[in-house]
Amino acid sequence: MNIAVIKGDGIGPEIVNQALDVLVRAGEKFGFECKFTDVLMGGCAIDQTGVPLPEETLSVCMQSDAVLLGAVGGAKWDSLPGHLRPEAGLLGLRGALGLFANIRPVKLFSALSSASPLKLSTAETPLDLVIVRELTGGAYFGKRSTSTDSKGIKTATDSMTYSDFEIERLVRAGFELAMKRRKKLHSVDKANVLDSSRLWREIAHKVKSGYPDVEYQDMLVDNCAMQLIRNPMQFDVIVTENLFGDILSDEASMLTGSLGMLPSASLGGGSLGLYEPIHGSAPDIAGKDIANPIAMILSVSMMLDHSLAAAAQEGRKFKDAALAIENAVLSVLNDGYRTADLTADGVSAEKNVSCSEMGQLIKERL
Ligand code: IPM
Ligand code: MG
Repeated sequence: MNIAVIKGDGIGPEIVNQALDVLVRAGEKFGFECKFTDVLMGGCAIDQTGVPLPEETLSVCMQSDAVLLGAVGGAKWDSLPGHLRPEAGLLGLRGALGLFANIRPVKLFSALSSASPLKLSTAETPLDLVIVRELTGGAYFGKRSTSTDSKGIKTATDSMTYSDFEIERLVRAGFELAMKRRKKLHSVDKANVLDSSRLWREIAHKVKSGYPDVEYQDMLVDNCAMQLIRNPMQFDVIVTENLFGDILSDEASMLTGSLGMLPSASLGGGSLGLYEPIHGSAPDIAGKDIANPIAMILSVSMMLDHSLAAAAQEGRKFKDAALAIENAVLSVLNDGYRTADLTADGVSAEKNVSCSEMGQLIKERL
């Protein structure tokens, strides 16, 4: 399989290296080979080529079976104009590859049940929800401007724009996922204020009629933010627009113990997908070998499960490899090993492991 690899900035290279080791090991075990092509995107691309998303990166990604991405961004590039920032590269890539559905599973591993700052009563119902975030529309891709009028008043505008077809395909992806899960779907919007949300709700209701087996509920985004803390076990699949999904997924990550636990898959119409942790480049801990590589490693698992299984003749072995990686992570956590971000509930010195030790433990377990 051909994998485009974007190590990116900050902790990106450290976590990607661990994830690639795990992937190679999975290939040996399950009988497949990956060819990795390193490409630049984000701050490192700006430094080397002057732009956050070089043409060559885009064309390599388009010709690959999947794209693996660490993280991009950092203080060094913060003063650049918006269209030249590292994040513009990421948005450009998501947009150019047509990856409109961002799947963000939020699953609490039982070994980490006390690692969350929240006390969850997960004894009866496990915490296992998925946020399906719209990824190529809304305020991220709407028109922006900043201007100063004759009185010296400075004004900035970001427009949140959605067309019916963009909402429909995303909501449909959510329903399809719900059908494979617990058949429950919350559509999250701000229809009491925003026009784009009122259209969202109208379209969601149309799509809903095709899925009578799915229990459907509209929920306002402020209420959803509260419900995620009050009783996150009520959720199965959440569909929502780009900005709301960005915010809610960071919030939801803390239910699992750490932002460093959440993987994601960005999918479009075909089998090509982009796989990245939901967290950022964490410049403050970059180069110290203390980052948590699990979100990145679980992103590899999602890549096997989605893109590689779909692109291959025999998808079964990729699905098996995906599950084996998840089980290896589980097993290492069950044995008490923790990276620094997961030690809030206490851990002995020998089980407090570095990024590379965590990666190697998972690889060995596999
Ligand atoms: C994410 C990140 C990105 C986003 C940033 C880095 C542009 O926060 O993937 O959630 O906002 O989409
Ligand atoms: Mg985010």
